[in-house]
Amino acid sequence: MFFTKFPHRANMTFAERADQLTLQCGKRAFQMRLRHFEGGISHLQIFDEDRLENGCLLDLIPPANAADGPLSFHEEGHFSLALSGVDSALIGRFGVCEQTSMFAFEVPEDARFFGMGEKYFESQERSGLRSKFYNTDVWSDFHFGQWEEHPTDPPYYTAPYLAVKVGESFFGLLLHNPYPAFIETPGIDESRVFVEWQRTDPFLLMGNEGGQPNLWIIEGPTLADVTRKMQSLVGKTPRPPLWSLGYQQSRWGYRGEADLLEIDRLFTENDIPCSGLWMDLDYMDDFRIFTLKPGAFPNGVHSCAQKLAQSGRRIVPIIDPGVKRDPGYAVFDDGIAKNAFCLTPEGRPFVGLVWPGETIFPDFTLGRVREWWKEYAKDFRLSGFGACWVDMNDPSTGPVEPKHMLFKEGTEPHFAHRNQYALGMQMATFDGFLAANPEERPFILSRSGFFGSSRYAAIWAGDNLSNYFYLANSIPCALGLSISGQPFNGMDVGGFGNDVSDALMLDWMKLAFLFPFCRNHSKKDCRRQEPFYFPKSVMLILRKYIRLRYALLPYLYNEFIKHEETGDPILRPVMYEFPGKPNETLDDQFLIGPSVLQAPFVSAEMKRAVRLPGRRPWFDLSQGTWVSEQKLSAFRSRQGTPIFIRSGAVLPMATEVPTDGNIDLKQVEFHVFLDEKSVQSEYVYTVDDGLGFGYKQGQESKVKLTVAAVSGHVAIASEWLNETLGKFDLTFVLYGDVKSLKVDGENRVLESVKIAPIEKTFSVKRG
Ligand code: GLC
Repeated sequence: MFFTKFPHRANMTFAERADQLTLQCGKRAFQMRLRHFEGGISHLQIFDEDRLENGCLLDLIPPANAADGPLSFHEEGHFSLALSGVDSALIGRFGVCEQTSMFAFEVPEDARFFGMGEKYFESQERSGLRSKFYNTDVWSDFHFGQWEEHPTDPPYYTAPYLAVKVGESFFGLLLHNPYPAFIETPGIDESRVFVEWQRTDPFLLMGNEGGQPNLWIIEGPTLADVTRKMQSLVGKTPRPPLWSLGYQQSRWGYRGEADLLEIDRLFTENDIPCSGLWMDLDYMDDFRIFTLKPGAFPNGVHSCAQKLAQSGRRIVPIIDPGVKRDPGYAVFDDGIAKNAFCLTPEGRPFVGLVWPGETIFPDFTLGRVREWWKEYAKDFRLSGFGACWVDMNDPSTGPVEPKHMLFKEGTEPHFAHRNQYALGMQMATFDGFLAANPEERPFILSRSGFFGSSRYAAIWAGDNLSNYFYLANSIPCALGLSISGQPFNGMDVGGFGNDVSDALMLDWMKLAFLFPFCRNHSKKDCRRQEPFYFPKSVMLILRKYIRLRYALLPYLYNEFIKHEETGDPILRPVMYEFPGKPNETLDDQFLIGPSVLQAPFVSAEMKRAVRLPGRRPWFDLSQGTWVSEQKLSAFRSRQGTPIFIRSGAVLPMATEVPTDGNIDLKQVEFHVFLDEKSVQSEYVYTVDDGLGFGYKQGQESKVKLTVAAVSGHVAIASEWLNETLGKFDLTFVLYGDVKSLKVDGENRVLESVKIAPIEKTFSVKRG
């Protein structure tokens, strides 16, 4: 598998004839099936008896059938995409070359491309690129010099999906086939071309290097429309446990209870909330998964977990898929007896070289193996571990060629399933945790993934380095994941490899403290990255942002609740809310939910440009003022970071951030942002137990707030949509020049207060 070689359009044989059921490509005839679904979604499957079926572990979830959709076929073999808002239909062709299949679309010159999931391409716009989709252990498959400060491709997680913009309309193209995929987009910046072959194809090319072609076309017209429909197809992320949205602390090197209790003590002593302590490989007995190093937990995991629970923390262990090849080790013996491992063509368990040395791999494509793994995961949860971190599931085979690692008892090729290997591991681990505790929402973090991982796991962007290249890139990377079906994402805050500097750590925390997933993780032998190992002046600032995350958990958690309803991502490109060309290249700004705009420092510069979208002023949280300019300069400050709040926004914030991080979702103040113009807005706030499934039976309280402000006279109306868990006080903090406030028709007294969580005095009035 070459990462830098791509199928060329000229080598493909394209279809020249089509009828309702068949496509003729040269001498080869393919069966096809075209179906349409509500919402302007078409699904095209092309079958060939010489090819394996895709064997996707998870089906996409289509809406109701419809009579027609954007895609239709012509007798001459090509097809057209008729899209609302696009003047003329786009022409597409289907071609093959041996096992490779390709869709080639004629797109106008101004077409722009977004999505592609996890990519380190430095910009969220993905025009003029050739890219592979093949789950990769980057540090193993590329040389250090390649990834230190450069985009390497492909990374760990696969999502061959594009949101394409033509004119002012968006549409989505999604290849649901776990074989390695490729995409080549037109639109290269000509200044980069010094050899002809660097110029990408004028057609949009996308396809797979095997398997049955399986293309979904999703009509917009807006990016939000396309994203919501795509997210419904791949599956929305279920409401996560509230604690998983808290700050997480990891370090490769924690050995067991003694280390965890020490870290726990330091968090408490320094008054820093932290909801999870993450254990890397060192707790295991010589890298044997599902074992403990003798003495790591002298009184068992459960006893340690109980101690940590008092300070609001869970223990999250790493689990790799690879099983040490070690007769006498129970998991190995049991797996061999049950024929649970991937095989070589000659039927031997396939061996890779990973942490334990010789390692064999459970075949997660088999339901019976997932059931087998599930029991181990279940026991792990029952032993006291609070969640699970599944790593190396690309799968990494170290320096060993993976193509001989076959699936389905040795009958199916490696590449047929590689991209969904991690998904199988996530499913089995999730199910094990659920089986251990059916009353609790499991939390799984995974390195690799595929379409459907959103239903089981959060994804972190793999191994990064403590430098500004990775810091800056974490924004376009997270934006790509967020609009390609994986909304629960984050990266190693502070950087995994190399020593972080004080300044970089501060910049990283300020950038990532509101990311959907927020975990500080670092590699053995690098500088310690826990907040209290920095000089006190640095620690205090890190603590401030960690606490601010907790104060904003009610908002963040509600964005996840809304995601489960709508499919909107949590972290969004600015163009998601504010369409338009200038916002498409904003790679150093992002939104959390619809209302919080961050423009963090992504380099060591003292000054940066900020673009405030839309026509309304934004509230500058670090200055405490309303800003009307659309373009401004933000100046670096040690304490602050550029954060702006949208006019009309309602942000529920916890009134208290206890050291144990256990936020009470009912103890909130609603911060309402009102510029001097008239404002009409609505916000629905939901409260549940943050942990169980009761919400599915309506065990929640939900209030709708409607805000109307004219010339400083503000009226807020509340409507309880559900009060099963009881009503709670509605307190408002208003930002703006407020002359009077009525809540549900009654006048409220106004007073000025200090807002503690933001640690900044604003001119604020409270009702
Ligand atoms: C991989 C993971 C990293 C982990 C390390 C040791 O490199 O990506 O997060 O710390 O393995 O387990």
